[in-house]
Amino acid sequence: MAQPRIYSGMQPSSGSLHLGNYIGALQQWRRMQDDYDAFFSIVDLHAITVPQSPEVLREQVRTLAAQYMAGGIDPDRSCLYVQSHVAAHAQLAWLLSTITGFGEASRMTQFKDKTAKGGQEAASVGLFTYPILMAADILLYDADIVPVGDDQKQHVELTRDLAERFNKRFGKTFTVPKPQILADGARIYDLQNPQSKMSKSADTDKGVVWLLDEPTKTAKKIRSAVTDTDGAIRADREAKPGVTNLLEILTAMTGEPVAALEARFEGQGYGAFKTEVADAVVAELAPVRERTLELLADPAELDRLLAANAERAAEVADATLARAMEAMGLR
Ligand code: TYM
Repeated sequence: MAQPRIYSGMQPSSGSLHLGNYIGALQQWRRMQDDYDAFFSIVDLHAITVPQSPEVLREQVRTLAAQYMAGGIDPDRSCLYVQSHVAAHAQLAWLLSTITGFGEASRMTQFKDKTAKGGQEAASVGLFTYPILMAADILLYDADIVPVGDDQKQHVELTRDLAERFNKRFGKTFTVPKPQILADGARIYDLQNPQSKMSKSADTDKGVVWLLDEPTKTAKKIRSAVTDTDGAIRADREAKPGVTNLLEILTAMTGEPVAALEARFEGQGYGAFKTEVADAVVAELAPVRERTLELLADPAELDRLLAANAERAAEVADATLARAMEAMGLR
């Protein structure tokens, strides 16, 4: 029987992934790629919904491709490609926008968060319709499962609603996908401000661990993480957000469950605990960083791989787009 299909993607909107992207997404993807038929995209069309520089974008696309591979995505097994290389994404997004309610789109919390600072006047229409493009990404590949961090859950719910609505109106066309979100690590928080999720757009990067940070810098950021004065190493999201975040990070790095960590660290101080978290993160990320830098030394090879995989992706996507157009009476 054919393997079920997974689809996911990340934006090339910074020079490096952060630890939240790594735990919430990349690490999950790597673990799933043996058991699923996998498509992983670099969503550059999403990245241009906020102001960006063309040269920087081009570089960040390659850097993200290198990080996917260094993090364990095998481009011979999984289809790793750049969204804008496959024309069907933008085309299906238009079709889906015609069945999306304006109110429905207005309820997307990520748009509200992203426009909280600058106001809606400063936001582009592309930023508003961003979740519809994401729905097109997923539906083009008939994905069964979408492994993402917790902040993307609402977008996957919208994707399900659009797939069901389309199928009902125009006949069975799309597979209705399910999100897959980790129990621990679905949301990694900023080390300095553990009430907010770790994010590319944080005001300062003191609490953000970048995959491509030097290992000494990573260790320092973790050792300086904000905790509390209560002194106990136990998980409590409300009362002890900093310690809880570090526990979840350590679990994601080593697989040791939070309850086992709480028992093992009983009676110990935060110093020893933070050192262990720092060592575990460095042990995991340092080889990924090194491999990324090696891969970036050969940009022609990266471009070749991305071009070959875009052809594989387009074969699947074009067939789905044709089906959707036909269903709507467009062909
Ligand atoms: P993006 O680029 O913001 O984030 C990429 C992935 O990282 C996860 N993530 C986190 N997980 C845990 N803790 C955090 N602090 C954290 N921050 C980010 C995100 O949940 C995501 O899984 N819209 C998507 C990209 C996208 C996509 C898609 C995803 C476009 N098309 C189709 C899946 C399927 C986004 O902006 O992710």
